[in-house]
Amino acid sequence: MANYGTGQAPRPTGVCHRGRSSTACGASNSTSWGVAMYRLAAMTTTSSRPDLGTSRGSGRDTIRVGIIGAAGYVGGELIRILERHPNVRIAGLQGRDRDHQPIAQAHPHLAATGHHIEASLPEVDGVFLALPHGASAALVPELVEQGLVVVDLGADYRLSDPADYQRWYGFEHPAPELLARAIYGLPEQHRGRLLALRDAEVAIVGSPGCYPTASLLGLYPLARAGLIGDVVVDAKSGVSGAGRAPKPEFMYSEVNESIRAYGLAGHRHVSELMQEIRDAGPHAGANPGAATVGFLPHLVPMQRGILAASHVRATREIGVAELQELYREAYAGEPFVTVMDRPPASSEVRGSNFARVHAHLDERTGRIVVVSVIDNLIKGAAGQAVQAFNLVFGLPETAGLEQLPMAP
Ligand SMILES: NC(=O)c1ccc[n+]([C@@H]2O[C@H](COP(=O)([O-])OP(=O)(O)OC[C@H]3O[C@@H](n4cnc5c(N)ncnc54)[C@H](OP(=O)(O)O)[C@@H]3O)[C@@H](O)[C@H]2O)c1
Repeated sequence: MANYGTGQAPRPTGVCHRGRSSTACGASNSTSWGVAMYRLAAMTTTSSRPDLGTSRGSGRDTIRVGIIGAAGYVGGELIRILERHPNVRIAGLQGRDRDHQPIAQAHPHLAATGHHIEASLPEVDGVFLALPHGASAALVPELVEQGLVVVDLGADYRLSDPADYQRWYGFEHPAPELLARAIYGLPEQHRGRLLALRDAEVAIVGSPGCYPTASLLGLYPLARAGLIGDVVVDAKSGVSGAGRAPKPEFMYSEVNESIRAYGLAGHRHVSELMQEIRDAGPHAGANPGAATVGFLPHLVPMQRGILAASHVRATREIGVAELQELYREAYAGEPFVTVMDRPPASSEVRGSNFARVHAHLDERTGRIVVVSVIDNLIKGAAGQAVQAFNLVFGLPETAGLEQLPMAP
C-alpha cells in the first residue's frame, strides 16, 4: 500500500561467498557502505546451512533466522511471531543506523524479548526482508548465493515478468534471472511450489502484498474455474498498511473520522492481481478479467485490517449452489481460510493469520460479490511470510501462527 520512493538500497557488505577465504570475509565485514549498512557478517566460507543437507530443515531442531528491516511495522510483527515459533530462533535483527540498539527503542512492546538491532546479521539459515520496494532487489542475489532461504515481504520478487518492474514500480530489476525462480508466497494457491523449494538450489519467496492477499483469497476459487470475466475490487485498509515512515497524509488528524480513496490512476498492487488471476486459470486466457482488473483502495480510520469487496461478472452463468461448492471445495482443509455464510468484518481476524471469505450471487444484477477480510500485518504480511517459510523448511504449516484473533 505504501508509496515509497524507488531508491535502491545500498548493497550488502561483509557478505561472504562460498569459495572465498574466511580472511577475505572477515576483512570485508569492516567495510561500510554509507548511511545504511547491510552486512551479513560472520558468515563462514562453508555453506550457511551446513547440516541441512539437500532438504531444508532436516537434521536441525532449530532454524536460525534473521530479519532485515526489523524496526518497521512488519519487522515488529515478524519478531512477535518468530519469537514464539517452536522451530525457530531469531539469531539477529538488522536495521539502518541502529547498531546495538535495544529493541525497545523501535518496538517498546517487544522489550521483553531482549533483542537488539544491529548493523549486520550473524550466520543464519533464512532471512526475512521487510524493506520498502526497490530496497531488496539488489540484496537478494548475494543472500541466495549464500544458500539462504529468502522471504521478501516487499514487492521486489512478486512479479515474474521483469518488464513489470519498469511499468509498475519505475525501476529496472537488477536480478531479472531470479524472478522466474521466485515463488509468489500465497500458500493457498502455491503450496506445492513452496514445498518444492525445500530441495531447490535457490529458495526465494516473494511474499504477497496485503491488498492482493485479501483480494486473491476472495477471487481464487473463481479464477481457478476460469470464471472471471470482469472484476472490480473495492478495498479498505487500516493505516498501518502504509508503514511507519511519517507522512502528513497519515497523521491522526488527517485520517481520523474520515475515509478516502486513492490510487485511481493505477495502484501498484494491480500488477499482482493481474498476474495471479491470469495464472490461476485452467488454461491461457481463461479469465479475460485478468487483463482489466479494476482496483480502488481506500484508507479508513483503523489501525489494522483490510476488507476487499470484489465485484465479478462471470464468464458464464453460475448458480448459488455451484458458487457455494466452489468456495467450499477450494478452502476445505485450509488451516487459515474460513468460508462464511455472511459477510465478515475485519475485526473478526484482527491480530491473527486467519482470513474470512464470503461469496454472494446477486441474482438481480447477475454479479458475484465476494467479501474477504484479513489482518494486513499478519495474513497480509508477517504471518503469511512465516506460513510460506514453514513450507519451505518442511515444518508444520501452522507453526508459530496459532494465535487466535483478538477483540474488541
Ligand atoms: N504494512 C503492511 O501492512 C504491509 C503488508 C504487506 C507488505 N508490506 C511490505 O512490507 C515492507 C515493509 O513494510 P512496513 O509496513 O514494515 O514498512 P515500515 O514500517 O516503513 O518499515 C520499513 C523498514 O525498512 C527500513 N527502510 C526504509 N527505507 C529504507 C531504504 N531505502 N533502505 C533500507 N531500509 C529502509 C526502515 O528502516 P528505518 O526504521 O531505519 O527507517 C524500516 O525498518 C514494505 O515493502 C511493504 O510494502 C507491508
